Amino acid sequence: MNTDSNRKEIVLSGIRSTGNLHLGNYYGALRKFVKIQDDFDCRFFIADLHALTTNPDPQELHANVKKILAEYLAAGIDPEKATIFIQSDVPEIAEMYLLLNMHVGIGELMRTTSFKDKARKALGLTAASDDDDEIEKQICGVETNRRVNAGLLTYPTLMAVDILIQKATKVPVGKDQLQHLELTRRFARRFNSFYNVDDFPEPYDFDFGGAPVKVPGLDGSGKMGKSEGNCIYLVDEPKALRKKVMRAVTDEGPQAPNSPMNEPVANLFSLLELTSTPEIVKQFRDAYADCSIRYGDLKKQLAEDILAVTTPIRERVNDILADEDYLRRVVAQGAEKARDAASKTLADVRRIMGIRKF
Ligand code: ADP
Ligand code: TRP
Repeated sequence: MNTDSNRKEIVLSGIRSTGNLHLGNYYGALRKFVKIQDDFDCRFFIADLHALTTNPDPQELHANVKKILAEYLAAGIDPEKATIFIQSDVPEIAEMYLLLNMHVGIGELMRTTSFKDKARKALGLTAASDDDDEIEKQICGVETNRRVNAGLLTYPTLMAVDILIQKATKVPVGKDQLQHLELTRRFARRFNSFYNVDDFPEPYDFDFGGAPVKVPGLDGSGKMGKSEGNCIYLVDEPKALRKKVMRAVTDEGPQAPNSPMNEPVANLFSLLELTSTPEIVKQFRDAYADCSIRYGDLKKQLAEDILAVTTPIRERVNDILADEDYLRRVVAQGAEKARDAASKTLADVRRIMGIRKF
C-alpha cells in the first residue's frame, strides 16, 4: 500500500456498467489509468447507479458490474495501488446526491447535452437544435415515462457528487463528459459561495499530455463505441474477433502510387499503429504507397496484433471472474477506502447545510 497517498493529487474516474469494455475504452482510458496509478492517488469506480438511469435488467446490471471489475483488474489496475470500488457500495454518495440536488436547477439539467441526446433518443425524436420545447412537451405530457426518468435528468448531480465527495481534482474523461465536469465545477463554486465555505476544490479533466487517442470503429467512420455497435471487445474470442476484423470496411484499393487514403483504410492503419510494431506499420504503408497492398493481409495482421493485446487480458478476465473471493476482497477493500473519504465529506456537508443531531 502506498503510504504517501495522502499527499498525492486525487484522480477519480468511473465507467458505467453497461457492457463489456472495448478497445476504445482500453486505449482511451484503461491503459492510461494503469500508467498513472503509481504517481497519483487514483480512485477508479464502477458507476452502477448511473447505469440505473436507463433502467437495465437487474440480472444484467449485476453481471455487468462484475465484468467491468474483472476487466479493470485484468487490464492491470492494481488494487494495492489504486482504490477500486463500486459506486453503490458507498451509500454516502446517495445521501449527498439528495443534498446537492437542492442546489441544482431543473433548467440547467434539462439543457445538458447528454440529457437532451438521451431523452431525444428515448422519445424517438430526430436530432434538431430547436426541439427542446418538443422534448419538454413530451416529457411533461407523460405521467410515467421510465425511459426519461428523474434519475436521467439528475445524472450530472450524481456525477458531481462522485467527484466532489472524494475531493478529486483530476478527472480523466472522454470529450462527451466535459460538460458534466463543467457543471461539477459550477455546483462546487455555488455550494462554496452559498455557504461561504471553501470545501470543494474545482476538478478538471486530466491532461495526459500528447495527442488524445481516438480509436476508430471497423465500420468505416467515426469512433469505436458501445452504442455504435462497431466494437472489438477485450473479451472477444479469437474466432469472433478475427471475423470482425476481416469484415472491416475498406475500399477498392489505391489506384495510383502515393494516393491519399480514404477514411476506412486510414482507420485500419490507426488500429495497426496502436497494436503493432513500427516495422509492420511501415511495411503496410509502403505497400499502400506502391499499390501492392492486399487488404486481406493487412486485416489478418491486424487481427493477430489485436489478439496479442487482448488475449492475455481475456485470459486474466476469465480467471478473475472465477475467483469470487478475490473479487469480494477487492471491492470490500475499495469500498472501505472510498467510504472513509466520502463519510468525512458528507459529515461536513450535513453540518454546513444545517443538518445536525440533537
Ligand atoms: P462508449 O462510448 O463505448 O459508451 P464510454 O463513453 O463509456 O464508452 O467511455 C468510457 C471511457 O472510454 C471514456 O474515458 C472514453 O473517453 C473512453 N473511450 C470510449 N470510446 C473510445 C474511443 N473510441 N477512443 C478513445 N477513447 C474512448
Ligand atoms: N458519466 C461517465 C460516463 O458515462 C461515468 C462517470 C460517472 C464518471 N461518474 C463519474 C466519470 C465521475 C468520471 C468521474 O463515461
